[in-house]
Amino acid sequence: MKVTAMIGSNRAESYNKQLVKYMKDRYQDKIEIDILPIEKLPFYNQDEELNPPEIVKELRKRIKESDAVLFATPEYNGSISGMLKNAIDWFSRVDLVLVNKPGMIVGASMGALGTVKAQLQLRQILNSRGVGVLTLPGNEVLIGSVQNKVDEQGNLTDEQTVDFLDSVVHNFVSWCDTLQK
Ligand code: FNR
Repeated sequence: MKVTAMIGSNRAESYNKQLVKYMKDRYQDKIEIDILPIEKLPFYNQDEELNPPEIVKELRKRIKESDAVLFATPEYNGSISGMLKNAIDWFSRVDLVLVNKPGMIVGASMGALGTVKAQLQLRQILNSRGVGVLTLPGNEVLIGSVQNKVDEQGNLTDEQTVDFLDSVVHNFVSWCDTLQK
């Protein structure tokens, strides 16, 4: 199963980036993760949406060819980052490449609540008409105090978190299978 991934942080040492890279490696037998360089997208401009920059066309194509989408969100001031929202806005117009794509959400933050506010908002955004992502019900992957749960290579070391993530990925793959039937 091909899964395109959008990561809402462009920071070199981003925990969310590390998390997706960890998932790409750990679950390679189940899902093939393609990380989209959404940091290269210009600011969304409605004047350009019918004839958008090449990067928009390229990423739309990669999403279209994927079976599902993974969102990894940091929490910025109680919400998702502008970069992630910008990407979703581009993909919510013209080709509607996200409509009816199964989606799963993960998020890591240094605070105790592990991006819960950002994830609630993200679910709401993904549910809007032009976006139309079918989000996996429940299965909230909220990784708080993430700085204590990864090693220097960016691998998750917290056993409980790893077990939970394993179960969510399993649930996501099974759910995607049932949607296809
Ligand atoms: C944050 N951070 C943060 N954390 C949190 O739990 N709730 C919040 O509302 C915020 N707000 C916030 C705003 C801004 C502008 C920044 C830069 C940071 C801290 C944030 O969780 C932490 O920096 C994470 O490490 C960001 O994710 P990445 O970059 O590691 O993926």
